[in-house]
Amino acid sequence: MARILVTGGAGYIGAHTTHHLLRLGHDVTVADDLSKGYRHNVPDGRLQVLSLHDRPALDALLASARFDAVIHFAASIAVGESVREAEAYFHNNVAGTLNLLAAMRQAGVRKIVFSSTAAVYGDPDSVPIPETAPLRPVSPYGESKLMVETALGWMDRCSGLRHIILRYFNACGADSQAGIGEEHQPETHLIPLLFQAIRTGNPVTVFGDDYATADGTCIRDYIHVCDLASAHAAGLDHLLAGGPSAIFNAGTGEGHSVRQVIEAAERITGEKVPWVIGARRDGDPPELVADSSKLRNQLGWKPAIPDLDDMIASAWDFDSRKHG
Ligand code: UFG
Repeated sequence: MARILVTGGAGYIGAHTTHHLLRLGHDVTVADDLSKGYRHNVPDGRLQVLSLHDRPALDALLASARFDAVIHFAASIAVGESVREAEAYFHNNVAGTLNLLAAMRQAGVRKIVFSSTAAVYGDPDSVPIPETAPLRPVSPYGESKLMVETALGWMDRCSGLRHIILRYFNACGADSQAGIGEEHQPETHLIPLLFQAIRTGNPVTVFGDDYATADGTCIRDYIHVCDLASAHAAGLDHLLAGGPSAIFNAGTGEGHSVRQVIEAAERITGEKVPWVIGARRDGDPPELVADSSKLRNQLGWKPAIPDLDDMIASAWDFDSRKHG
């Protein structure tokens, strides 16, 4: 059992990881400013409402318990929005993290699992993408995550802060057992938007069908959020056992186009998804698929729910319960 501080634990991936860690027997405290996350995502008595920009509050929290490690999710996450609001993305994702890292150093907490993203690769030369691929983000979001990765690399070398960096591909699905799932406000992610289109009849816009992919729509590597949670637990175990810093892709290695995701959603729900073709979205690379062999081989991780239909079924189950 370890004492873990989870920043952003009221958000989508953070909450699923928090529930997973609690089931494994860890003692988890969540720090979240609730700007995007939800109180109802966090089990009773675990939530501290605070902002990473509030250094005194961070110091007080870190002084209140001897945390063995931090898992750092708290960040702004929408690729398209980051293109319109670059300043906010650098402020939240970089300045907020530097504040956290300084507070950790002061409190003597020397292990961190960091939420990074496939967006650090930008538009890759080829897929599947290994961790060694060139890092050339095409959005402020991806750049903000890369800046933190760079800082963590130097802090490992200069001050012994050990990190596991997980570069997530497209998280989806839900843990309906725990009653949690994906609910962003406003929603920008594809799968919940498909359900919204089914419920309201308002078509979802497919962002471009003229990419150089088989059906012209963007290809992504969808990974079940519970499998992402187990990747965090594996990374944490590695650090707690004294393992060295490392970077891992977290995806299944299977790519699906937007059209294929729409077809899968229709199969699972038994409903027609209304959709229209729109313009490309800024910052969207055509194809992102992970080579996740490093995570599998070095941390013994394996996705329990690798099938897209099963991912969508769990998301639909959550969405249906939410809408009664
Ligand atoms: N899409 C549409 N219409 C929509 C919404 C999305 O066509 O209304 C398309 C996007 O263009 C993209 C795919 O569906 O091709 C998935 O888009 P999401 O917005 O669901 O997810 P992103 O790929 O933009 O981003 C997600 C996370 C990022 C992460 C990235 C890694 O939000 O944090 O996956 O691949 F970096």
